[in-house]
Amino acid sequence: MDRLSSAAFRCSGRGGGGGGGGGGGGGSCLYALCLLFCLCFSAAGVAAQTASVVIVHPRPDNRPPPPVYSSNPTKGVLDSSLYYPGDAQCLMAAIKKFATAVVVRDRTKAATLLRLVFHDCMTTGGGCEASILTDREINNAVNADLKRVVPDIHSIRDKAGRACGVLPTLADTIARAAAAAVTFTGLNDVVSVGFDLGRRDLAPNEPGNEPTTLPNENQSLDAILSLFATFGLTDKESTVWSIGGHSIGVADCIHFSSRLSNESTRPGCLQPADPTLDPGLACKLARHCSINKDIRLPFDFRTPFSLDTSYFQLLLKHQGLLRTDQAFAVHPRTSAFITQYATSPGLFSGDFLKAFVKVSLFNVNSAQTAPPTKYYYP
Ligand code: HEM
Ligand SMILES: *[C@@H]1O[C@H](CO)[C@@H](O)[C@H](O)[C@H]1NC(C)=O
Ligand SMILES: *[C@@H]1O[C@H](CO)[C@@H](O)[C@H](O)[C@H]1NC(C)=O
Repeated sequence: MDRLSSAAFRCSGRGGGGGGGGGGGGGSCLYALCLLFCLCFSAAGVAAQTASVVIVHPRPDNRPPPPVYSSNPTKGVLDSSLYYPGDAQCLMAAIKKFATAVVVRDRTKAATLLRLVFHDCMTTGGGCEASILTDREINNAVNADLKRVVPDIHSIRDKAGRACGVLPTLADTIARAAAAAVTFTGLNDVVSVGFDLGRRDLAPNEPGNEPTTLPNENQSLDAILSLFATFGLTDKESTVWSIGGHSIGVADCIHFSSRLSNESTRPGCLQPADPTLDPGLACKLARHCSINKDIRLPFDFRTPFSLDTSYFQLLLKHQGLLRTDQAFAVHPRTSAFITQYATSPGLFSGDFLKAFVKVSLFNVNSAQTAPPTKYYYP
């Protein structure tokens, strides 16, 4: 069995849209053909999540009135008026606990939760305000695979609300759940580098943002770096955030099949259409995609459940999955960072966490957001 087929991958039930209830896999199936390191890793994740959570049960008849929300929050700055300090502390721990339980049940969801915060926060004109949950955003094709974690976000929020007696915003739930996924996949808790709660949700009458403003695999890397620069990310931050993000998770064949070989030749096994792709890998990818075109294959086929530097190392061997990922390894603005991160796990994890915190603050509490209508749970 080659490495690619031994890595876990998912296949999708396409068009099975209805992300309704159930908390189930939303029509995706898991090939749990897992290498030993995956098993070890998941055991470590389970151990990490047993760290206990102090849950404060408020006395219903002895609650202070809900907070007075600040009338004019500053865009890009967390709103400290959203929760009383003890409640914020409880929610921080509770969202982590319930999100970790989700990824323990289905570890493929860690990548999906991470991508969810990226797609919530980085649409042009938008920010981290849970707009990803609007019909306009979640029903767009670019977000099709994110739908399966939407029921999880609602249930994590509800359980945290019950545990703490106070309801977190959806935007905070999305950000903190993604942070829990990052910890589950191997990095420190972002709280250690300053992550906090305080994100208002999109106002009810706001339509959400344009999802096609997110980058796609056919764009030039210059275009993507310019786009990310509009959010204040340096080329180095864009590199660690993008390639770090793709060190876990999977992509549908449609996103890389044009890199494989000319369909008129033997599938994949002569030379790939994209000369920047390793021919051996092209072969394997083409074989998997031709067996089942709805399959999703891992970006990092060595450690697909581990947020680590392995994908940076694969890029140095021309084994990136997307054309744009591979471009990071050769572009003069980013190639030095790929080499640097490939050999510096400590630098990588610190920089990834800092990028996460920065992204999780984009345009928070903008004029499109509104204060919560409900503080206490239920
Ligand atoms: C640089 C530009 C980027 C492009 C062109 C891009 C493109 C893609 C594509 C095409 C997929 C596969 C989607 C599918 O088949 O459903 C994907 C998945 C993913 N992306 Fe990106 N992405 C980019 C940046 C990022 C960033 C900055 C992050 C940071 C969090 C990220 C995190 C992920 C994750 C975790 C997945 C896997 C999701 C899963 O397994 O459910 N991506 N991306
Ligand atoms: C990228 O280009 C390929 C090949 O031309 C195409 O099949 C695919 O739909 C394009 N993807 C996007 C997101 O535009
Ligand atoms: C594929 O092969 C055909 C016939 O040899 C050729 O005309 C075509 O340009 C090739 N396409 C690509 C993408 O290389």
